[in-house]
Amino acid sequence: MKLSGNTILITGGASGIGLAFAEQFLKEGNEVIVVGRREEKLAEAKRKYPQLHTKVCDVSVEQDRIQLYEWVIKEFPQINVFVNNAGIQQRVNLLNAKNDWRFYQNELAINVEGPIHLSMLLLPHLTKQKEATIINITSGLAIQPGVWVPIYSATKAAMHSFTVTLRQQLENTSVEVVEVLPPAVNTDLGGVGLHTFGAPLNDFIAGIFDGLRNQKSEIGYGGTEKRLTATKEEIEQGMKNAWQNFLKNNPDF
Ligand SMILES: NC(=O)c1ccc[n+]([C@@H]2O[C@H](COP(=O)([O-])OP(=O)(O)OC[C@H]3O[C@@H](n4cnc5c(N)ncnc54)[C@H](OP(=O)(O)O)[C@@H]3O)[C@@H](O)[C@H]2O)c1
Repeated sequence: MKLSGNTILITGGASGIGLAFAEQFLKEGNEVIVVGRREEKLAEAKRKYPQLHTKVCDVSVEQDRIQLYEWVIKEFPQINVFVNNAGIQQRVNLLNAKNDWRFYQNELAINVEGPIHLSMLLLPHLTKQKEATIINITSGLAIQPGVWVPIYSATKAAMHSFTVTLRQQLENTSVEVVEVLPPAVNTDLGGVGLHTFGAPLNDFIAGIFDGLRNQKSEIGYGGTEKRLTATKEEIEQGMKNAWQNFLKNNPDF
């Protein structure tokens, strides 16, 4: 994709990876719109970057998605890049799953239903643009599941699969489809303090923008770059090692 002169919508763009994408896209010379559920987080992002456009939207709610789509194509008819970034991550012990179904369903709705529906809403508009891009932020856990986050891993595997089929269906259109597979990155994902061991956000974003600049369609960073070409055996072993490590550090899971 070209890195400047775009109009870009980023879900979950008021914090973490989404905000880091927004910052870098602003620096490269793009119009950027970020959406999220928390108005105060959007206002905080806008105070830091007054040129940002913001909109409250809960991507797990069908009506919110339709309203966002109608608003964005009316206010920004030139929109040509859509970044599916909003996501949550929940640790779930399947042998001790005591929450109401709504709790588990929310992770499916935010991580899978939201991005698929929004992509489908925006596609007719994007295919009319001269150059357009859909960027799906999945995860290294799409390829090597994290056993402590079983539903999250399933949502990311689903989005990886959707991204592959979307890319094939759009092969002869003006819309390019890019998948970004982050490793652990130091954000508030899953709750404050749970990802402090992850890669620094700035280093991660610099690596991903190198990939975008080099026109890669699947972009990993560090461990997830290697995972893209790992064998089935390597993935199986990596999953088991990470699970043992998790249990050692979280004996009460
Ligand atoms: N950090 C990592 O280690 C890592 C690794 C692999 C993949 N990822 C993926 O990267 C993406 C961004 O995560 P992050 O690490 O930046 O986490 P984060 O710091 O928790 O940010 C997530 C963002 O998504 C927004 N969001 C959550 N639910 C939403 C909803 N229903 N509607 C609209 N916005 C919503 C949040 O804002 P509100 O709460 O205000 O809505 C927040 O701005 C996610 O898809 C995540 O799965 C992260």
